[in-house]
Amino acid sequence: MGNESFFSQAIALCQSSALVNAGEAVPFDVMYCGQSCTAFAIRYADEAHAYLNRCSHVPMEMDYQPNQFFDLTGHWLICATHGAMYSPQTGRCRGGPCRGGLIKIVLTEADGLVHWHTAHNIKPVDF
Ligand code: FES
Repeated sequence: MGNESFFSQAIALCQSSALVNAGEAVPFDVMYCGQSCTAFAIRYADEAHAYLNRCSHVPMEMDYQPNQFFDLTGHWLICATHGAMYSPQTGRCRGGPCRGGLIKIVLTEADGLVHWHTAHNIKPVDF
C-alpha cells in the first residue's frame, strides 16, 4: 500500500441520484497542484466518474453551458472551445485537438452518496 492511498481522504460530493447517465455534471472545487480549479462529476453507463474541468488542449474549462459536458450522442465528453473529445469512462482523448487526457479524480459511491478522494496533487480547497 502506497502512502498516497493511505493519506487519501474521502470528501462528500453529492447524492447518487444527482448523477444521471449522460446528464448534467455536478461541479466541485479542488486545489490542483496548489491552484484552485473546478472539477466535475458525471455518470456514464451507470458508473460515476470525475475529472478536473480543464481541457488538455488549452488549460481552460470545457462546459459549453454550465455543467454540460456530454456531446449530443451522450457518449463523449466534449470541450466547447475547439471540440476536443474525451471518453467519459477514462478521460482519454478520443478526437480533436487534445494533448493527452483529462485528469481523473477518484470517486466512490455507497449508500446513495458519492465521495471524491484526494490525491497527492488534488486536495480540498481550504476555507
Ligand atoms: S481548449 Fe479544449 S479543445 Fe481547445
